[in-house]
Amino acid sequence: MAVQISPSILSADFARLADAADAVAEAADWLHVDVMDNHFVPNLTIGRPVVESLLAATRLPVDCHLMIEDPDRWAPGYAEAGAGSVTFHVEAAHAPIRLARTLRAAGARAGMALKPATPIEPYADLLGELDMVLLMTVEPGFGGQRFLDVVLPKIRRARTLLRDGEHNVWLQVDGGVDEDTIERCAEAGADVFVAGNAVYAASDPGDAVQRLRTVAEKATADAWWSTA
Ligand code: DX5
Ligand code: ZN
Repeated sequence: MAVQISPSILSADFARLADAADAVAEAADWLHVDVMDNHFVPNLTIGRPVVESLLAATRLPVDCHLMIEDPDRWAPGYAEAGAGSVTFHVEAAHAPIRLARTLRAAGARAGMALKPATPIEPYADLLGELDMVLLMTVEPGFGGQRFLDVVLPKIRRARTLLRDGEHNVWLQVDGGVDEDTIERCAEAGADVFVAGNAVYAASDPGDAVQRLRTVAEKATADAWWSTA
């Protein structure tokens, strides 16, 4: 699986989201959109209307990360709106299997996110229902936080589970990913990288995406889990 970079617009200027999408349109694989409801996390961002406007404003596929309560009720709407990938938090989902199936039936890739302290092992049997697992490498809620190295062993264990299974499930990391930490994430087994500050605080966001990709590709080529 090739390295993919998903810049998070949480670190962009919210009055100029279309420009933020444009700035990475050539370099990125996805546009990562953080939906927060001020209940699941102590921060409030945007919802479906803004996601719909973004979908109309960019050719990049949209990667929705829902940090919200009751995703069973709200997540399918993002898939119906046209998001290419919709990720719910397992800590908030009432029926993750049913929800993943609903998302896929609505035409989106189904992602399941875990906060840093949530173990992956209880969900090993669910992996075939998913297209992506998102391992948070900061506590969700805010951009610009420091990467939590304590999550690295979980990335390795998740990659082992995925490698031993027959399903092609992407492994995304999100939080504190920059040119330094992306190397550790790729070595551990991640293949989809979210980066907010590392992209949008840079003078040239497209260039920053390219630099992250170069580091991640090199680390992946040498990694224990890579078949390349
Ligand atoms: C945080 C969000 C992240 C955030 C990452 O809860 O899920 O997507 O934007 O930002 P950085 O890369 O700055 O940590
Ligand atoms: Zn996110």
